[in-house]
Amino acid sequence: VLILISVCLIVEAFGASLPKAEINNRTFPESFRWGAATAAYQIEGGWNEDGKGESMWDHFTHANPNVTDDKLNGDVACDSYHKWREDIQLIKELGVSLYRFSVSWTRILPTGYLDSYNQAGVDYYVNFVKGLLDEGITPMVTLYHWDLPQVLNEQGGWLNDSTADRFGEYSRIVFENLGPFVKLWSTVNEPKTTCMLGYGSGENAPGIKQIGTAIYQCARVQLLAHATAYHIYHNEFAAEQGGQISLVIDATFNEPDTDSEADAEAAERETQFNLGWYANPVYVGDWPQIMIDRIGNRSTQEGFSESRLPAWSAEEIEFVKGTHDYFGLNMYTALRVSAVGEAEIGEPNYYNDKGTAVAFGSDWTPSVASWLASYPYGMRGLLNYVWNHYKPGEIYVTENGWATDGEINDQSRIDYLQGYLSNMLDAILDDGVNVAGYTTWSLMDNFEWARGYTQKYGIISVDFNSRNRTRTFKESAKWYQHTVRTYCLVD
Ligand code: NOJ
Repeated sequence: VLILISVCLIVEAFGASLPKAEINNRTFPESFRWGAATAAYQIEGGWNEDGKGESMWDHFTHANPNVTDDKLNGDVACDSYHKWREDIQLIKELGVSLYRFSVSWTRILPTGYLDSYNQAGVDYYVNFVKGLLDEGITPMVTLYHWDLPQVLNEQGGWLNDSTADRFGEYSRIVFENLGPFVKLWSTVNEPKTTCMLGYGSGENAPGIKQIGTAIYQCARVQLLAHATAYHIYHNEFAAEQGGQISLVIDATFNEPDTDSEADAEAAERETQFNLGWYANPVYVGDWPQIMIDRIGNRSTQEGFSESRLPAWSAEEIEFVKGTHDYFGLNMYTALRVSAVGEAEIGEPNYYNDKGTAVAFGSDWTPSVASWLASYPYGMRGLLNYVWNHYKPGEIYVTENGWATDGEINDQSRIDYLQGYLSNMLDAILDDGVNVAGYTTWSLMDNFEWARGYTQKYGIISVDFNSRNRTRTFKESAKWYQHTVRTYCLVD
């Protein structure tokens, strides 16, 4: 440890002038890209300004304030729509070279249809990316981070195949206008969570509770949307613009609860029903075999006369397969998985389809978010899984972060980031996994969907009681600033 500390101090003293990779093996590679992430609805506010149309999150929160824990919404959020210049300065001060944010579909196409084109929305993002580039910050643009145009939602949203075509049209406009400046794209953020919470539990917009079938149709349409945008980019823009585009998939690292064969199989099933559900169609082709087997076999049960997993045509399988330039991975937590015996399985639904039971390890540190506990090794384990199973060439960890009550002295977040980044470094240096960059969630506290503003993920605090939405570096931001400057972790 002493040796490592002294090497890190040397790195710090000489800063970027030293060739980082040569200093010792606990520094990140020189090419590693450090960043921070946000999403439009969670930070922008300005929900109806300058021609912006209503998104399904505007509609969902306005129609019934009780859908969020604090009855608040994203109408103002961090007010980044107005404070974007200040945000750029904060990113610069943090010292990261990559900023991942999303474009709001309804600023560009207020109804989701081409004839509603809104120049003011396009201008906003062009100015923003130019502002980032002026400060040497690379934009990484998410095309869809959950704010579907409400008009499209009313026409079936992610259950309607035609939404994939609308997404393609919207994406083309964004490529045309931002493509000269943006070289890193992601299509759909976290399709699994969008489908599970929006069309399964109903906790998120559009609030559909249908855990048996709608989630599977939602997955199909989101994958088609992703692939449509991917092909438009590659057919019409990539040669000239030279960027990369992929899907961003969220996944847990799943460990068998015991060393029994049954639990090992259950952990793999859990992974296939989460990660594989989206990664298999894109990186391998078709749904994972285990999903086809289990849902197909159970499809004759009462109430489900046909398979609940939508079938792909051969053309669709080919259309989706191979639509990746990197692997976008959102990784926060892990699960311990045990098998549920066939006899105990109840009515057909997603959870019963999997035949698994999940829990946190008893010694993992819980966060204030019920779904998130700290198990740092999970980062290394999942990076290896993704690397070995999908052979993506390079991985960006597009999200990873910790929930607190919002305190400025957030040692628990520093502990979490330290542990996860250290395991990421093990994956890079010891296991040979090519992780090209990391955008921590989140640059700043923001609107956490159904949790409203009750759970905070930012390394920068935002005072939601001040009209000015004052931003303040937390201790974790200072820690991160130091880490990204030195490329060095001391464990
Ligand atoms: C993933 C989502 O992409 C993001 O919007 C959300 O705020 C974080 N996880 C934390 O829950």
